Amino acid sequence: MVIATGKFSPLSPMPGMDDSEFERWASLLEKRTGVVVPLARKAFLVTSVRARMRETGHASFEDYFRELQKVPEGAIEWTTLVDRLTVHETHFFRHPPSFELIAEDWLPQAARQATQGALHAWSVGCASGEEAYTLAMVLERGLGAAGSPKTYFGVTATDVSLPALAVGRAGLYPRQKLQEIPPEYRERYCEELDEDSFRIRESLRKRVGFAQFNLLDAARAPLKRLDLIFCQNVLIYFARERRRELLGALANLLKPGGLLVLGAGEVTNFAHAKLRRVEHRQVLAFLRNG
Ligand SMILES: C[S@@+](CC[C@H](N)C(=O)[O-])C[C@H]1O[C@@H](n2cnc3c(N)ncnc32)[C@H](O)[C@@H]1O
Repeated sequence: MVIATGKFSPLSPMPGMDDSEFERWASLLEKRTGVVVPLARKAFLVTSVRARMRETGHASFEDYFRELQKVPEGAIEWTTLVDRLTVHETHFFRHPPSFELIAEDWLPQAARQATQGALHAWSVGCASGEEAYTLAMVLERGLGAAGSPKTYFGVTATDVSLPALAVGRAGLYPRQKLQEIPPEYRERYCEELDEDSFRIRESLRKRVGFAQFNLLDAARAPLKRLDLIFCQNVLIYFARERRRELLGALANLLKPGGLLVLGAGEVTNFAHAKLRRVEHRQVLAFLRNG
């Protein structure tokens, strides 16, 4: 029985969600983040919204939806809900060929051309930071190998999820994840804390800055003349047209010679006047024209 006051009791059954209610929630998510939840994933959306309703004591979707529109409380609640509605799966060195391309094909030349001896990379949709730290490891080691160990580099790591960013900022991961990091990087950049966890060494952590940023605001990003933009496994959740529009905005943030790395197959038949495709069988990447 749902209590008539609209207040939630732990014994109340949770309401069902019909397709039009689902549409309303899916549209809210897409409007605010770009993430599309297809009808086939309705169960995931319903479970996530209901779980949050239970935690916040809302008995109906209507009440909870209204709560999310309130200023400023709704915005605070939204940051928690969006974390539940987005997928944060990630790994160190998730797509090895992409990092090999950066280290072996692009970095030696980029290091030579680095303006004022600095390189700046952006991990877009960094989740809990594994991708950003992978970039930092590859840049640090690669700059040494390219004979430019003094070239300064920094990685900006952004995501919409505050809990994911907090993990990244701490740089603390379960020990099993050490296996994702090739041995030549492991020793140099990771310190084992105890039998359950390891931490990214401080010297590398301080090269990575984490911040909340919504990719939908890419056209207004406070970043410019970037050397490297890495955006994998984020755009796949977005509608096709939105992907193209955002890629255009990312292209504008690169400096000439800058590299944009996407996930293989994440956009097809994409062309942009400022970008040229890097020829590679396994990696989807573009160089910004001079
Ligand atoms: C599957 S993870 C990918 C993580 C990492 N890029 C990788 O490839 O391993 C997708 C991340 O994109 C983030 N995300 C989704 N929509 C976003 C948006 N509009 N702006 C920024 N990040 C977003 C999610 O919060 C999630 O952490």
